Amino acid sequence: MAKVAIVGVGAIGGVVAGLLQTAQAHEITLCTRRPLTSLTVATPEGPVSVSFHNATDPSQTHPVDWILCATKTYDAASAAKWFPGLSGPQTKLAVIQNGVEHRENFAGLFAEDRILPVVIDVPAERRSDSDILQRAGALLRVENTALGANFAALFAGTKANVELVDDFLTAVWAKLCINSAGVISALTLKPAGILRDEALGEVALGIIAECVAVGRAEGAKLDDETGARILAGYRAGSPDSINSLLADRLANRPTEIGARNGVILRRAALHGIPTPLNAMAVALFNGMVG
Ligand SMILES: NC(=O)c1ccc[n+]([C@@H]2O[C@H](COP(=O)([O-])OP(=O)(O)OC[C@H]3O[C@@H](n4cnc5c(N)ncnc54)[C@H](OP(=O)(O)O)[C@@H]3O)[C@@H](O)[C@H]2O)c1
Repeated sequence: MAKVAIVGVGAIGGVVAGLLQTAQAHEITLCTRRPLTSLTVATPEGPVSVSFHNATDPSQTHPVDWILCATKTYDAASAAKWFPGLSGPQTKLAVIQNGVEHRENFAGLFAEDRILPVVIDVPAERRSDSDILQRAGALLRVENTALGANFAALFAGTKANVELVDDFLTAVWAKLCINSAGVISALTLKPAGILRDEALGEVALGIIAECVAVGRAEGAKLDDETGARILAGYRAGSPDSINSLLADRLANRPTEIGARNGVILRRAALHGIPTPLNAMAVALFNGMVG
């Protein structure tokens, strides 16, 4: 049995809460900014109703074994306000977010040697505060370390597929390559089917190629077929699929453009790599949304 607190009970935090619930072994605390009386996750295997304590203020929390943070990347500082009340000397923090800056985003906000970055692949939506839709199975990737193994053990007996990977750097950059092309949907305000267009497919390949070049400079092992594979994946997938950058833009919410394409520019600058397509995409996006 572990004491687990989730900060960021949106689509991903909700899915993770549902998975932990099915382990039937943990004490779950959901830290939310509004009171939450129930949480149901519609999973591919059927609905899961989560049993939890709800904290709506850090003063209502107690130390736990694991904090799972699944806010958007730009909410790291506000999420960290929960950490002191939830932390004891052994408390560990799993950062379940997109991007490649899991540790950087929480540097100075939590003990760095107890931070575990997590990459999650699962299509999920929050239909309301208490109603999460999980469209398919969840794959979580973590570093193959003692901390990673401890995290994986939380999900023993659940439908979660938790992979301990030796080359986590490559895993995060491979995911970033996929996400980088999503900016085209967010710019055109059209779902993933827009990448079936020949000209925009070429643009996507260019955006991904820049991400591959920067990722390689950072040490990720990304092969020359990465772009073609990703574009084929987008084209084979549902044309109606809406990525979170587009969803956030449509809903007039803050977006993760900085964590998805902005980071490519920032890291490229360190290596002297030109990234004109990502630079234009970020400038256009910020110009339209800003
Ligand atoms: N959705 C997907 O399918 C998916 C797939 C893979 C990866 N991801 C990544 O996973 C991460 C989470 O995405 P998401 O889709 O789950 O986002 P989301 O649905 O917007 O959920 C974020 C949650 O964080 C909460 N939050 C923000 N600041 C908080 C604070 N200070 N205290 C407590 N709660 C706080 C928000 O609460 P409020 O309602 O109060 O704002 C919201 O419930 C992102 O990095 C995303 O890119 C998402």
